[in-house]
Amino acid sequence: MKVISTERSQILAARIAEALNTTVVDVKFTRFPDGEQYLLAQKPDDDMIIVGSVVDNDALVQLLLLIDACDSATNRLVIPYMGYARQDKRFYEGEPISARAIAHTLGRGVESCLTVNIHEKNVLKYFDVPTTNLTLARDIGEYIESAALNDPLVLAPDDGALAFARDVAAAGNWDFDHLEKTRLSGVEVKMAPKKLCAASRSVVIVDDIISTGGTIATAAGMLYQQGAEHVYAACVHGVLIGGAYAHLKANGIRDIVCSDTIERGCSRISAAARIADALK
Ligand code: R5P
Repeated sequence: MKVISTERSQILAARIAEALNTTVVDVKFTRFPDGEQYLLAQKPDDDMIIVGSVVDNDALVQLLLLIDACDSATNRLVIPYMGYARQDKRFYEGEPISARAIAHTLGRGVESCLTVNIHEKNVLKYFDVPTTNLTLARDIGEYIESAALNDPLVLAPDDGALAFARDVAAAGNWDFDHLEKTRLSGVEVKMAPKKLCAASRSVVIVDDIISTGGTIATAAGMLYQQGAEHVYAACVHGVLIGGAYAHLKANGIRDIVCSDTIERGCSRISAAARIADALK
């Protein structure tokens, strides 16, 4: 068994290989003059762990090419971040169920598929092979514990993420809650913890994805108005589009941390051990 990855998941793949006591396969990635992608994998095995986060369209195509290059029905696919999972249903007639399209396409030609904190678990049913979805809630909790914050309040940005916040908070037996949006007028909304008070507390907002950072930046502003001492942000998938990281810092977020399901400068939590354990 060896580990092979797309360009955007190479650090995580190397960590998974190390945890599995195996090696990574060397892959050369180039493009044809018209921009089409090409890759050449050096000696793939019959039993490969293929790792690739769908962080953008190029990464998706690269993953498809890699699955085809490895060409064995006993290969196992790891999608640490599955992009397109947020369009998991048809909201308007004429829309695609993008998550289904991606799952059908990627699930072909592998034996099984492993995801990490997939945005909607019901997307897993669209894969034509057995799936496992892991959560890094515990790992985020352990990271917060290592930061030695004073009795932090763990907040989900909405009730949908409350179970995730609860699992993060379990690491230190901390308080957890979710933010609730109240419309004050046609243009004004208030976001505050549903049950608890943020005043004088270190607050850690946790979510599966930080994309534009808009949700957390708005929440942080309001939490500071409510007297929060410091606001931190932690997520599994640091999509961080545009200037999201700077936007969060400019809005007073003291620290931002994410995992290496998307490889970023602030990826200080690794999914490798958990993925390796699940593959053993
Ligand atoms: C949404 O359902 C996700 O869990 C995140 O809350 C969302 O993607 C965050 O987006 P943004 O960072 O753009 O506010």
